[in-house]
Amino acid sequence: MKRLNYENAIAVTREIYWVGFNDAAAGLHCNPYLLLDGDESIFIDSGSIPDFPKVMRKVIDMTDPDSITHIIAQHQDPDVCGNMAVVEDVIERPDLRIVAHQHTIRLIRHIGLRSEFYAVDHNDFKLTLKSGRVLEFMFTPFLHSPGAIVTYDVKSKSLFTSDIFGAINTDKWSLFASGDFCAPMVPFHQAYMASNRILSKALSRMQERWEIERILPQHGSILEGDDIATAFDFLKALPCGADLTEDV
Ligand SMILES: [Fe+2]
Ligand SMILES: [Fe+2]
Repeated sequence: MKRLNYENAIAVTREIYWVGFNDAAAGLHCNPYLLLDGDESIFIDSGSIPDFPKVMRKVIDMTDPDSITHIIAQHQDPDVCGNMAVVEDVIERPDLRIVAHQHTIRLIRHIGLRSEFYAVDHNDFKLTLKSGRVLEFMFTPFLHSPGAIVTYDVKSKSLFTSDIFGAINTDKWSLFASGDFCAPMVPFHQAYMASNRILSKALSRMQERWEIERILPQHGSILEGDDIATAFDFLKALPCGADLTEDV
């Protein structure tokens, strides 16, 4: 396998780039992604304040920040949108939109964002880019946040899942899944996802709705090929959250 230089943005496809920070000391790696679509760019789960300098440098390596028209906040956590107010300051365009579910918007407005929001639940769970490219959203409440969504890029058949399919890598992390990629997903889903019933139903909805060529989670590793079905089956059978805490 080709060795990747995580100091640079990494191409996942010709139009999708990982722009995260490989923090070797952290078990929980954050994966912000940049989608380039002609002269328009979409920033997905832009990330945390501590990671901001590394992340923004990679974004600037790939595109003019002013080409970013939308920042998608797939849920409300600080590792997803802690840097959003600072990212906004770098992007000089008044028509920048923050894309999220209303349940997320209600909370992240408190981090002091100045851009207008684009509530996916008020827009048919869809965003159409200037080129005609369509991003579809699915509401995945309590996985793990009440306003969580996932994002599907119809053109590349890529599914951005935020915390779902996330992993805590105590050993070695790699951007693309290798080895036993299911094991590091266990502690993360057990601790953060609501229950097996809620998780497995949402996973089935994703499989029924979309043909998925890759999964790009906000933590852990990108899944492709046969690993996708393996991961779906594994998580659908995993007890988590309330399943494990009935006596608490
Ligand atoms: Fe989260
Ligand atoms: Fe997260």
